[in-house]
Amino acid sequence: MATQVHTEPLDLDVGRSDIWRENRWELLMDRLRAEAPVSYCAQSAYGPYWSIVRYDDIAEVEAHPEIYSSASEYGGITIADALGEAELPHFIAMDRPRHTAQRRSVTPAFTPTEIERLSSEIRERTSALLDTLPVGTEFDWVQKLSIALTTGMLAIIFDFPWDERANLTLWSDWGADLEAMIDPVRGQERLGHLNDCAQAFARLWNERAQQPPKNDLISLMVHNEAMSSLSPLEQLANIILLIVGGNDTTRNSMSGAAVAFSQFPGEYQKLLDDPGLAANAVSEIIRWQTPLAHMRRTATEDALLGGQRIHKGDKVILWYAAANREAAKFPRPRDFMVTRDNARRHLAFGFGIHRCVGARLAEMQLKILFEELVSRRLRISVTGPIERVNSSFINGYSRLPVTLTRA
Ligand code: HEM
Repeated sequence: MATQVHTEPLDLDVGRSDIWRENRWELLMDRLRAEAPVSYCAQSAYGPYWSIVRYDDIAEVEAHPEIYSSASEYGGITIADALGEAELPHFIAMDRPRHTAQRRSVTPAFTPTEIERLSSEIRERTSALLDTLPVGTEFDWVQKLSIALTTGMLAIIFDFPWDERANLTLWSDWGADLEAMIDPVRGQERLGHLNDCAQAFARLWNERAQQPPKNDLISLMVHNEAMSSLSPLEQLANIILLIVGGNDTTRNSMSGAAVAFSQFPGEYQKLLDDPGLAANAVSEIIRWQTPLAHMRRTATEDALLGGQRIHKGDKVILWYAAANREAAKFPRPRDFMVTRDNARRHLAFGFGIHRCVGARLAEMQLKILFEELVSRRLRISVTGPIERVNSSFINGYSRLPVTLTRA
């Protein structure tokens, strides 16, 4: 059997942000999957950690939350330790039983009926925004579409003051900035922004508590019985988690869609020919982009994973981006295919008890965007250099020059 020869050394530190900014992660992940699917990186800017890159191994970790903890007291859910932070008690960074109770308090806001109710306003806003975009002139899709639409939609969903909605982007960007978390000066700046965010939402929370119930998510939660058992700080944390959770992720799915539609024009043509494919195209874009490259767990006891011994206290990084590029699960994994039959089985929303609460909402927003693009016969071409986010957590774009044409 021929041996594959690699000229470059295998860089186990796939948590380095430059690898993601320069879009070099796919080859490295392919090699890890083939050569060392459960591998230990002893030294990194974030300290030592395990990289888990195979779909089944990630599912196994997420199926055992009693062994692999999400709790902030062990370091939380990203490669950068949350330890020592004045963290709000987000349920994404909690284990059972606290996690169960808190998650239950927000799920009523995400039922199919609630999502359906929001859809008409979201369609109106999406349509209005698309009608302002120039056709035939280059513009930055990230600023003009992804940020504008995601932030606008969050403002609608939470009935957040419209004129202040740019703050939602600001706070969410700082919240997810892992590089700032490990930098003492920028770390303080980050905490300052998160504090502003907490104060703004505390004001809204109190306002809505004194008003009769309305249809926005804050009001739904304020007046939801399950929420009343939580402390004010926990209630606030849950609202902020929804804002931050829904921001970068949906934004970068929208940006990823522009890149995929441009790189795979034949696939976009299929969508133009059959708009009924929109729902599957949404799952496929979320798989293809995987806007959160990883989540992290911490081992609470010694365990065996993929033949490797994980020790109590070890940091375990679940590389969703790698699992969603696994050819054994997703044939021709780098190709964006709107008719991929198992696109919905992607791991970009996670798996198990922490699986994304906002998945249905995100899918609805993206489906409306795709339907409205198609109904206007708009084609997207990337016409300038792409700039990516400097992060191994947010797998996304900071600049995306595109030009629209009519199909
Ligand atoms: C394409 C868009 C989105 C992606 C890719 C995404 C991805 C994720 C991932 C990977 C997790 C962690 C799963 C795990 O640990 O197993 C998560 C959890 C969560 N997401 Fe999303 N998300 C998206 C949109 C949203 C939206 C729109 C919201 C809310 C408005 C939201 C709110 C949350 C919350 C509250 C959690 C914590 C769930 C828990 O710990 O039980 N997400 N999401």
